Amino acid sequence: MQSPATERGSQRYAKCIEVSKRIHWEIDRDVIRGRTFDFTKKFLPDGISKVNELEFLSEDERRFLSQVQGRTYANMFGLVERFIGAKMLEVTQQYWFGDQTKLEALVRFSDEELKHQELFRRIERMTAAEMPVGYAFLPQPNDVAAVVLGKSTWAVLALTCHIELFTQAHYRQSIDTDARVSDLYKDVFLHHWREESQHAILDELEWRREDANLSQAQRESAVDDLIDLVAAVDMLLQMQAASDTDYFLRNGGRGFDGHETARLRAGVLKAYRWQYIVSGVQDPRYLGILGDLLTTEQAARIGSALEPIVRQFDAARASWPATRPAVAVRAAAAPDDA
Ligand SMILES: [Fe+2]
Ligand SMILES: [Fe+2]
Repeated sequence: MQSPATERGSQRYAKCIEVSKRIHWEIDRDVIRGRTFDFTKKFLPDGISKVNELEFLSEDERRFLSQVQGRTYANMFGLVERFIGAKMLEVTQQYWFGDQTKLEALVRFSDEELKHQELFRRIERMTAAEMPVGYAFLPQPNDVAAVVLGKSTWAVLALTCHIELFTQAHYRQSIDTDARVSDLYKDVFLHHWREESQHAILDELEWRREDANLSQAQRESAVDDLIDLVAAVDMLLQMQAASDTDYFLRNGGRGFDGHETARLRAGVLKAYRWQYIVSGVQDPRYLGILGDLLTTEQAARIGSALEPIVRQFDAARASWPATRPAVAVRAAAAPDDA
């Protein structure tokens, strides 16, 4: 017989299955619906692309830069969902001959990630057909997956949970009523968010389960892995931001002086750091989980690694110290709990 805690855990997986079935969507029938991208519209809202911070760009230039970023957004998700799907399939192994509800929830999760990869490949093809030649998405999904999956499961689940939570933050940013943003791209955010909501719940459950199996020494090493992964993501963002800025400069239709070029390079990197790191690590749910799992020293180590990245975002800087009291309470209570 299952313990009450195990049963409660199982119910949460069952709820994810139920919602996943209810909100299921198809790429052509529900998202694309015979449409093409309207290139008179932005692809990403300003809150995500940060193009509104580049005041020297004309409205047309901001729109084009948003479209370049939107194309990279699709490619980035196609990339991360490769390793997320593979890790989830690996995690299912523990349930093959055990809890079939948990197995089904994670199999559905993996299946949805395959569909999302296909959706993002479609977006790449649709945008490539209309945009000037010369765009390059540099990271290779399988190479990145090999590096990520070489790290501990705890760290990969920590990175994955962060990604699936920022997907939800991006959806919330996309639902503003800015008529200058592509309706088709808004639908991509909407449909992706619907399935990612369940994924974020399952990530957290699996991450906490994995955490409960680790010794303090293993968790220490897993925190190092997570720091390595964040550094690897940031390196990849620097590479792609440079490539996308070069593409924008080649196709922007006018020259930019040295100061403007430097602002553009910094602005695109800032946007990518916001999209793929900061909007996740400042999420209150994410901070709450880290607060539960980490000691004060481990949280401080991650905080120091993030400092150079979050430095330019005031809100994110403010949210990191806010987790410390929760972490400190856990650390202080630990001897009594043991
Ligand atoms: Fe996804
Ligand atoms: Fe997902």
